[in-house]
Amino acid sequence: MSALFNKCCITIFFKYICIANYNGVGEVKGLHHITLVTRNQKVNFRFYTEILGLRRVKVSVNQDDIYHRHLFYADHEGNPGSTITFFEWPELSRGRVGLTSPHHISYGVKKVESIIRWKKWLASKGVSVRGPFVRDGRISLYLRDPDGVLIEITRKDSEKLEPKYILELEEKIKEPDRVDSDMILQKLDHSSPVASDSGLLEKFFTKVLGLKKNYSTKNPDQADSLIVGIGNEQRTDFMRYIVSDKAPYGIVGIGNIHHIAMMVEEDQDQRHIMRKLEDLGIRNSGIIDRFWFKSLYFRDPEGNLLEVATKGPGYTVDEPQEELGKTLALPVWLEPKRNEIEIQLKELDSKNREEWPPNYDNIPERPEQLKQ
Ligand SMILES: [Fe+2]
Ligand SMILES: [Fe+2]
Repeated sequence: MSALFNKCCITIFFKYICIANYNGVGEVKGLHHITLVTRNQKVNFRFYTEILGLRRVKVSVNQDDIYHRHLFYADHEGNPGSTITFFEWPELSRGRVGLTSPHHISYGVKKVESIIRWKKWLASKGVSVRGPFVRDGRISLYLRDPDGVLIEITRKDSEKLEPKYILELEEKIKEPDRVDSDMILQKLDHSSPVASDSGLLEKFFTKVLGLKKNYSTKNPDQADSLIVGIGNEQRTDFMRYIVSDKAPYGIVGIGNIHHIAMMVEEDQDQRHIMRKLEDLGIRNSGIIDRFWFKSLYFRDPEGNLLEVATKGPGYTVDEPQEELGKTLALPVWLEPKRNEIEIQLKELDSKNREEWPPNYDNIPERPEQLKQ
């Protein structure tokens, strides 16, 4: 009932912003990070470093819930745009994708060959994997992390995607013995939240964030849904919404995306977006100093939690590059509580059993279908 009420309010509100004719200015550069929920930080650490070859660049606590960890993984340099972060919340139940609970995340790799190497590497580690699929000028492989998060590894390369060529690669490429330089997960390619109304989405992203809908195409994995690509001139679809008027509501929990953060270069760009949100009456968090960047939170018309984060100052503001992510890092205002936090985290760990290797959930035959 309340979900229906919210939807009605949102629809009326967007009719208002159409009339307001508010133009965006395009400060959003792409993705900054995506934040998810994990049950166990040790399993999470082993998976994202040993299996996916990312680097842990920060171990901290959730600044809004300081007795639970916040873990950051990224490329070796800790660049925004490659960052995936996790709140460790063992008390939560398993979530479900749908409206308000985004569907999957996607990392890009540099070669078509990399996808085949990943398939062989992941299979050798017992990770559930499906693909590769060739669709919309991209080749994609899907896997699940130990909590059930659906992850896509993808490469856009329309010239090399003949089925015969892919088969030859599968025969030719040998199983890698590590995540080699050809396989490195580069930037986040896209995130796929779920929506029910592509018109509302387009108005929101153009009028509030200065982005645009660059395409809308049939979802090859689900006949009654669309894939709507939203981005800027350089990165045309860092948001690839799955849109269906039959989409059910989801629940954010373990194994789900909590929020998706887009990047702006400068503080003034973030302030500009906040002013636009305020002018349009859209509830937002105000600008919050997160120590490694500044954050502004709000929801899209369907209730997905979004953030706009500044590029800097970055993860090296408090730790040298070579020491990133090795010990608990706290923003200066939480240092007086360090003892208390460490005791609480130890207590949490004592009740949070670690299982390695984990049991990986299967992936549907059609990975980007709504029902997971
Ligand atoms: Fe995708
Ligand atoms: Fe965030």
